[in-house]
Amino acid sequence: MAKEKVILDMDPGHDDAVAMMMAASHPSLEIKAITVVAGNQTLEKTVRNALNVASVLNLKGVPIAAGMSRPMVREQVIADDIHGETGLDGPVFEEHDLQRDPRHGVDLIIETLLASDGDVSILPTGPLTNVAMAMRKDPRIVSKIKRIVLMGGSYQLGNVTPAAEFNIYADPEAAHVVFSSGVPIVMMGLDLTRQVRCTRQVIDRMGAIGNRVSKLFVDLMEFFSKTQEEVFGWDAPPLHDPTTVAYVIDPSIFVTKPMRVDVELRGDHTYGRTCCDYFGVTKREPNAEVATTLDLDRFWDLLEDCLRRYS
Ligand code: RIB
Ligand code: CA
Repeated sequence: MAKEKVILDMDPGHDDAVAMMMAASHPSLEIKAITVVAGNQTLEKTVRNALNVASVLNLKGVPIAAGMSRPMVREQVIADDIHGETGLDGPVFEEHDLQRDPRHGVDLIIETLLASDGDVSILPTGPLTNVAMAMRKDPRIVSKIKRIVLMGGSYQLGNVTPAAEFNIYADPEAAHVVFSSGVPIVMMGLDLTRQVRCTRQVIDRMGAIGNRVSKLFVDLMEFFSKTQEEVFGWDAPPLHDPTTVAYVIDPSIFVTKPMRVDVELRGDHTYGRTCCDYFGVTKREPNAEVATTLDLDRFWDLLEDCLRRYS
């Protein structure tokens, strides 16, 4: 069976790192490129984090490029309360010689898509700045994107404000460009990802695998659990970003609902909210498949399968 070709666009980020672990090991996926964006931390830190994780995964032959360092319009916001000063606090990484690709991440997205047969999906798990800028810089790519499977938004509660989820709130104008692009979108919002809670039992289950990547998983989740409990009072952190990779590997794990999704760009209290027409009351054409539920057992089984594939 042909591999699913993906571009990971991310802001590592504890949960972004787990998404990379899954995408780099599962045999059904081929990572064509990893592009990094400012989000959880500044770009310099998210790039360093991406290279550190890729080094532990022994990820070879995949270009990793730095993209946009700031949102398109608004002032920059970061999530250091959740991901720490480095953006990936917790694990200690060994020195390595993995270098970033010299190309700009936006150019790498454009080049990868234009060289493709229209069979490459983009999996954004951070703010959508890189993807939106690529669409604006070279509109030819819009018809070349197979689909966008993104972590972001919500049709209920936000996290960074009562109304908005971080990835969208960090660059609402970029999100508007992407959601209005006409590209097929699958949205893993907080409504779905908050069901994927990385409990102590899950951490121990993955730690028992006993390889270098499962140890990194444990080190990441120990820190992530602490900050998520401090900020939100969660007894176990939601593992947001890996849901995008799991969907591409096995979409049958998830239930989605077609919805019209618009991004609020003006509200004093709702700026960055994904306004999701759950009941279809606007009668407007849906522009996204929004995930509502998943089979948790099968998700954890898939994560364990991916982690076991490392030596
Ligand atoms: O709101 C959760 C999202 O924001 C996740 O992608 C997390 O990594 C942060 O980027
Ligand atoms: Ca992220």
